Amino acid sequence: MKVAVVGKGGREHAIAWKLKNDGCDVFAIPGNPGIAQVAECIDIPMKAVAEWCRDRAIELLVIGPEAPLCEGLADEVRGQGIPVFGPGQDGAQLEGSKSFSKIFFQEIGLATAPFFVCHSSAEVAEALKELGDEVVVKADGLAAGKGVVVCSNHEQATEAAAAMFGGEYGPAGKIVVVEKRIRGREVSVLAITDGKSVSLLPSAEDHKAIFDGDEGPNTGGMGTVSPGWVQADFEQRVRRDFFEPTIAGLNARGIDYRGVLYAGFMIDADGKPWILEYNCRFGDPETQVILPRLTGHLGELLLAAAKGQLLDDTIAVSPRASVCVVLASGGYPESSTHDVLIEGVSEAEAEGAVIFHAGTKLEDGLRTAGGRVLGVMAMGDTVFDARTMAYESAAKISFEGKQLRTDIGARGANL
Ligand code: GLY
Repeated sequence: MKVAVVGKGGREHAIAWKLKNDGCDVFAIPGNPGIAQVAECIDIPMKAVAEWCRDRAIELLVIGPEAPLCEGLADEVRGQGIPVFGPGQDGAQLEGSKSFSKIFFQEIGLATAPFFVCHSSAEVAEALKELGDEVVVKADGLAAGKGVVVCSNHEQATEAAAAMFGGEYGPAGKIVVVEKRIRGREVSVLAITDGKSVSLLPSAEDHKAIFDGDEGPNTGGMGTVSPGWVQADFEQRVRRDFFEPTIAGLNARGIDYRGVLYAGFMIDADGKPWILEYNCRFGDPETQVILPRLTGHLGELLLAAAKGQLLDDTIAVSPRASVCVVLASGGYPESSTHDVLIEGVSEAEAEGAVIFHAGTKLEDGLRTAGGRVLGVMAMGDTVFDARTMAYESAAKISFEGKQLRTDIGARGANL
């Protein structure tokens, strides 16, 4: 099968790696130096992708990041008759517009925090009167993983909203959603859908804060473990109470959603799940631990979803655990040093890990080119074994300013 993958991060490296392991002929647009080891990398503008796929007789296009999905790339390529894994612009609004998704959750009866959609600071002040002290302020549009501020008092919320209206996140902050803060433990559940059926992927848990013990500012994700801490009955519960009503709600609105529904839940002290958000794509770095555990053919699974032919809910999963430790640049997440020489990748691979490239480039050796640089993924019979190997491998890689958390997969419930 000839498959093209759009994107250049660790998530896309994991997708391309799994497709290649399953025997696919893989192309990446534009890819990165790690992806280039398993795929042919093509550097073309997004507007040329549809025609390129048609000319190269691509049988499946997988779109990794949210931005091209929100800009309608899937619709354009489907217009050429090519199967695409990833929702159209209408479905991608679930991630691209927080107000769209919150109103949708409310309309279809999902458990979600009370909220207000605000267009001015005066509307925010009115919302705060209703929502209590602890709120979350969100920029409506895409803000590169930023644009969500958890506030413990009204002063912080007023300030956060004012910064959004003032242009801190560009057009993404023209509308602001203010919602009541739900306290609890977060968990992500990713599902594959063909617009009719839903197949849940194995659970994974991300570690968003930059420092051990969940201290410091949030990042795109400093490491993941699969399985996550949720139990099997939790997955059945969220399927029934969230994913199935979501598909019915999308269908009722004429949205044929083929791709990943990545749900972020908060589990409160009573064990009740509340939906915080949907993302319209695979998680990063969740993908780096989920895909290595799939024992079936990824290309066939994604093609079935793209064609509206997902057969049943059985995605074959290895009982082994996986852990991915992210190595980040100095200064991340506020800033990041670039062009720094990276050494020891082959030695780390020799320890048994798979190294997924996120922000790297080849320029007089392998060098850093982003905040999150590499993901070191290892598998084991237990989470403990997987994390031991991941950390032994990560220790072999060096670059100036290297940052990593030392507690990925150590939170318990898995060991
Ligand atoms: N790991 C968080 C995300 O993909 O949004």
